[in-house]
Amino acid sequence: TYVVTDNCIKCKYTDCVEVCPVDCFYEGENMLVIHPDECIDCGVCEPECPADAIRPDTEPGTESWVGFNLKWSEAWPNITTKKDPLPEAEAFDGVEGKLEKHFS
Ligand code: SF4
Ligand code: F3S
Repeated sequence: TYVVTDNCIKCKYTDCVEVCPVDCFYEGENMLVIHPDECIDCGVCEPECPADAIRPDTEPGTESWVGFNLKWSEAWPNITTKKDPLPEAEAFDGVEGKLEKHFS
């Protein structure tokens, strides 16, 4: 599966949702997640993310993100249409420690 990781937080560009063939993105206040059981591993969303926040779960460091994506995809609504990024997206792109400080 692919997972959304912390650089999505406070950015939420949403380019990813437009290309997913199985519509498996879910939307929280300030980030999206992928439902790991619905993702078919096609990989087309990865290069679409301007914040480089989408990673394959085979990549080191993504272990904790699989459970995170699963948990929140079951709580949040599905999103299939692109919308404007968050107003602070550019300022927050690449900021360290967003999960600890800015996830809500
Ligand atoms: Fe959707 Fe493919 Fe991205 Fe999985 S890898 S979330 S199926 S676009
Ligand atoms: Fe987030 Fe990137 Fe999608 S910032 S909303 S994963 S395009």
